[in-house]
This record gives sequence, structure tokens and C-alpha cells, in this order.
Amino acid sequence: MRIGPYVLPSAVVLAPMAGVTDRPFRILCRRLGAGLAASEMLTADTRLWTTSKSRHRMNHEGEPEPRVVQLAGAEPAALAEAARLNVALGAQIIDLNMGCPAKKVCGKLCGSALLTDEPLVARILEAVVNAVDVPVTLKIRTGWDREHRNGVSIARRAERCGIAALAVHGRTREDFYAGEAEYHTIRDIKASVRIPVFANGDIDGGKKAREVLDFTGADGVMVGRASHGAPWIFRAVNAHLQAGIATPALLRADLRDIILAHLDSVYRFYGEETGVRIARKHLGWYCGLLLGEPAAVRRDLMGAPNTAAQFAQALKHFDDWVGEAALAA
Ligand SMILES: Cc1cc2nc3c(=O)[nH]c(=O)nc-3n(C[C@H](O)[C@H](O)[C@H](O)COP(=O)(O)O)c2cc1C
Repeated sequence: MRIGPYVLPSAVVLAPMAGVTDRPFRILCRRLGAGLAASEMLTADTRLWTTSKSRHRMNHEGEPEPRVVQLAGAEPAALAEAARLNVALGAQIIDLNMGCPAKKVCGKLCGSALLTDEPLVARILEAVVNAVDVPVTLKIRTGWDREHRNGVSIARRAERCGIAALAVHGRTREDFYAGEAEYHTIRDIKASVRIPVFANGDIDGGKKAREVLDFTGADGVMVGRASHGAPWIFRAVNAHLQAGIATPALLRADLRDIILAHLDSVYRFYGEETGVRIARKHLGWYCGLLLGEPAAVRRDLMGAPNTAAQFAQALKHFDDWVGEAALAA
């Protein structure tokens, strides 16, 4: 799998998710086998880049290459300028968000709502591709509603405009996240363009990834929600897709160490106050998936008032969890 000059180490990539795919999570997922990890979306409105949120989103220190910055906006010139500025700051791939279901940001169409206006989509893509000398990729849904699945038409325009790769979420904007993702339109899109296509939507493990790749003919898969509390999913999917490559299972002790290192990286990145809040979200997911959410444990983890107390609670409960397995063995 290649995007411009970059050969990806794996065809399974992390989906951009606002509030989730911050620098610590991206680095973690890359380390555990994600072939690529785009940033959370950054608004093209540079006036908002002074907020703490945007500044954190623009920080890529220590991130493995290629560094992907996702931009959201609706104005071709503003997106082109935002792309230029981010390349100057070290972005190596610019990804454009036409997949997010929010209808408007700052009173303008944005995300997948742009799919209703194909000429505007083309103007945006041309403006951004012409503005930077790094690959520009595009993330879309299959259309804006089930009667208007114009994904194939958008994909063809994208290819003509010089887009280097496409990610397609198998839902329309009107579907939001309801129902199941459909892969027929992704298959049609893949058959209509020569650029790499990532299939996205409801991929929750190696078996599903294999099925979706076989059905759609896509070049890779993009995994979003299934990585919540399970960044090791990339390792598992890679192992499944590259059958024959022996990948020893991770032990409970390995998972505990990954979680604790993740917490530590969140604290370092955000500092005390925001760190404890952001870590709480990830801990909730880890706890739900691994510890089965016993109420008392959840209370301990969620109620910890600062990073030191939170880390100590996590250490205690995940140590106990590792110990249980050792006793049962
Ligand atoms: C919490 C959350 C935040 C998201 N933020 C973004 C975003 O910033 N940019 C984007 O293109 N898609 C965003 N998405 C959509 C995902 O990238 C992905 O397309 C969607 O979740 C479907 O994939 P999945 O079924 O593997 O989760 C977000 C999804 C979630 C759940």
C-alpha cells in the first residue's frame, strides 16, 4: 500500500476521530501496527488555531512518519491555506474530511454535508492539491442519503483532481452511525478508480477486515470505534490478514503495561487537569472491555481526582487483573 512516496507498513489504518486520535493514541496505535494514523480534524479557520485544543491537535512531536493532518472546512481558499501552513509545520499528508456527519460548522456546510455539492467538492480538492506538494487524501461517506449515494461520482472527481487515496465510510450522512455499514458502494467506488481505497465502517477484527477486503477489493481497511480501549486491534488484524506470520498473543501483563504507558503519555501531553479528564475516557473503555466494569472498580478509576491517584488506581486494578490470570493458570 503506497500513498504518494510513502509505503505503509500495514494496510490497516486508524480512522481519524475527534476527541480520541490525539498524539498519544496515534503513536500507540502506530506502535501496535496501524499503517497510518490521521490527526483529529483541525478546522481550516486559522483564527481558531490559538485555542489549546487546536494547539494540541497541531502537535506532532515524536510521531512516526508519515504524519497525517486532517482538515475540515468548506472554503477552497481557506482549506488551501490551512494545508500550506500545516505542511510548513511538518504535515506529510493532508487528509480532507468529507465524512463527518455534522451539518454545519460556523454556519457553513462541512464534512459529509459537502457531498451535496459536487462542484464545490471539486473546487476544494483542486485548491488543496495545487497548494501543497505532499499527497492529499480524502475521507467520504457513500453519499448524503440513501437516495443519493454519489460516492462513485465523488471518487471519480477526486481521482481527476489528484487525490492520492480515498477512505470511504459505508454509511450516508443521513445514516449518521445507525444501522450497519454497507460495502456495496465501497466496492463500486474501488472498481471506478485506480487510487488506493480504504474501506471503513464497523470493522471490529481480523475476520471482518478480511471479509470486507475480499468483498470490496479495497486496498486497505480503516478502523475507528473498535480501537477504543483496544489499540492492539491493529496487531490482531495484521496477524489475521498476513496469515502465516506468527504473532504471539499479548498476555494480560503486556496489556496492563500498554495501558499504563498510554496513561503516562496522556498526562505528559496534556498536563494535570486535562490529562486526568482525557485519560478517564480511555480508562472507561479499557475497564469496560477488560475488567468487565465492576461498579467499585469503575468508581475508583473514574473518581480519582488527579493523575497520581488515577494512575495508582489503574496500577492496582490492572495488577489485580494480571494476578487473577496467574492464579487461574
Ligand atoms: C468519536 C468519533 C469522532 C470522529 N471524528 C472524526 C473526525 O474528526 N474526522 C473524520 O473524518 N471522521 C471522524 N469520525 C468518523 C470515523 O473516522 C469513522 O469513519 C467512523 O467511526 C466509522 O468507522 P468505525 O465503524 O470503524 O468506527 C469520528 C467517529 C467517532 C466515533
